[in-house]
Order: sequence, then structure tokens, then C-alpha cells
Amino acid sequence: MSDKDVVAFHVEDRIAWVKFNRPEKRNCMNPPLNRRMMEVLDELEFRDDVGVLVLTGEGSAWSAGMDLKEYFRETEAQGLAAIRKSQRESYGWFRRLRTYEKPTIAMVNGWCFGGGYGPLFSCDLAICADEAQFGLSEINWGILPGGGVTKVVVELLSMRDAMYHALTGELIDGRKAAEWKLVNESVPLDRLEARVRELAGVLLKKNPVALKYTKEAIRRVGDMTYDDALDYAVRMQEAANFMDRTEGRKEGIRQFIDEKSFKPGLGAYDLKRGD
Ligand code: COA
Repeated sequence: MSDKDVVAFHVEDRIAWVKFNRPEKRNCMNPPLNRRMMEVLDELEFRDDVGVLVLTGEGSAWSAGMDLKEYFRETEAQGLAAIRKSQRESYGWFRRLRTYEKPTIAMVNGWCFGGGYGPLFSCDLAICADEAQFGLSEINWGILPGGGVTKVVVELLSMRDAMYHALTGELIDGRKAAEWKLVNESVPLDRLEARVRELAGVLLKKNPVALKYTKEAIRRVGDMTYDDALDYAVRMQEAANFMDRTEGRKEGIRQFIDEKSFKPGLGAYDLKRGD
């Protein structure tokens, strides 16, 4: 397998399907995968034929986390410069995905461990299979959950669940992950792809500029005071108005108030007539 093949992707019906593609290694993330993922994200981010990005895994795993051999042992053997480089490469694409131009969905098909929680959190939405298994296995091999993983579980889970999960290393299945809000929802594996397509279809009907500014606001206001958040939203809406060449909000109001062709409370305005 060449270094390029460790990430597979194709675009179909405006959905970019990006796959961790080391199934024989349970899609654990080694330095070539981290580098390739950044290239693939670069290639897809501003393409007009992409409206939503789905991140999933080939085979029985979503991702078994960082590669213990190639990411940890072999870079550690090369010294601090190599460690810092491989950290930059992995954290780099996690960050890139967190602020991605297009909405993103993690489609968690199987194993999801440790470092995998980084890209899981980076995706805006997450749907998993009931059969998926999630674990912070770090404690089982003698380290603390590194990278952003401690932050991820504290952001998403209650303190008690985060602490239990991190200290015991016990697995939870997809249903429990949904109950804990680690993911949005869990469905049987044989319905996973259909459910993700359906969700992507909902997003594809929305104004893309509004989606980008909304996801950004949801991520950022958590660290702000109420007044800062109010002010941020005012400024960002003004920026969005400038960025949206279709003037979608005016078209939306027109279709509702003048044309009476849709109700904003019940669905999105017709984007096609707003171009
Ligand atoms: N790092 C390096 N290699 C890994 C790996 C990881 N995180 N996860 C799986 N692999 C490798 C295995 O070493 C094995 O390699 P081999 O075929 O050359 O022997 C191969 O992937 C298949 O793994 P295997 O353990 O046989 O698969 P399984 O389906 O029986 O079990 C897991 C799957 C995910 C439960 C198990 O591989 C595992 O515990 N992985 C480590 C998970 C982890 O702790 N990740 C946290 C990293 S921060």
C-alpha cells in the first residue's frame, strides 16, 4: 500500500466520503496517514462540488487511535524533534477539520480509541453504529489521554462520565456513546450509511455560508461571556452578509413573506432560486 492509499476518498452527490484506510491496522493513525489526511482535507475544502464531508473508516474500525508503533515508539526513538513534528502533523489536521469550511459528520462504524477522539470532536456532528466500541485505552497502556483527548471528553461528557471513562479504560458501545452525548445518535450498523446520507441531505439544502458561520459560532461562543457572544454574533452575521454573494437571507424572507412558497419554521428556502 502506498502512503497515499492510507486515506481513501471520493465525492458523490456533493458528499465527500473520506476514509481512514488502514483496515489491517484498525485504521490507527501513523505519520503518513496524518500527513495524507491534511492533503486530502486541503484538496476537498473549497471544491464547489462538495457540500458536506463525512469521515469514516474502512473495515471493522473507525480508528484505533494513534499508532503505538509508528506514532509513539518509532518517533520517540528519533528524539524530540521527531516527536514534535509528528504531534504537529496530527494536531494540525484535527485543528483544520475543527474549523473546516464545509460541515462535517463523523460516521463511526466500529472501534474508536484514544487519539481517535480528536477527529471525532473535530467533526461537527457524529453518528455511530450501535455496534461501535469507544474507549480511552490510554490508562491500559500506562499514559494519560494526550493530545486534545482530555479536553474532548470534558467538553462533551459530564465530569463523572469523563472521569470514569478515562480512569477505567472500559469500553462503551454506540448506544451508550449516544446516551453520553459523545455522538449525536446511534443506529444499527446496517442503517448507518443511510442515516448519514439523510443527515448530509438536510445540510445540503441549507445556505452554505450560514452553515459555516453557524458552526463556527457554536464552537467559539462557549469560551466567551454573554456580551462577547452577542457582539461576536452581530459581527459574524455582518461578515456572513458580505460573504454570501447570493444574499440568501433576503431571498429566504422573499420566499416566505412575498411568495409564501415555504415556511422557515419547517424547512429551508429553495437555494436554487436564490442564485
Ligand atoms: N497502534 C498500532 N498498531 C495497532 C493499533 C494501534 N493503535 N491498533 C491495532 N493495531 C494493529 C495490531 O498491532 C495488529 O497488527 P498486526 O496484524 O501486525 O499484528 C493489527 O492492527 C490488527 O489488530 P488486532 O489487535 O489483531 O485487531 P483486533 O480486531 O483483534 O482488535 C483493537 C482491535 C482495536 C481492540 C486492538 O487492535 C487494540 O486494542 N488496539 C489498540 C487501541 C488503542 O489502545 N489505541 C489507543 C492509542 S492512543
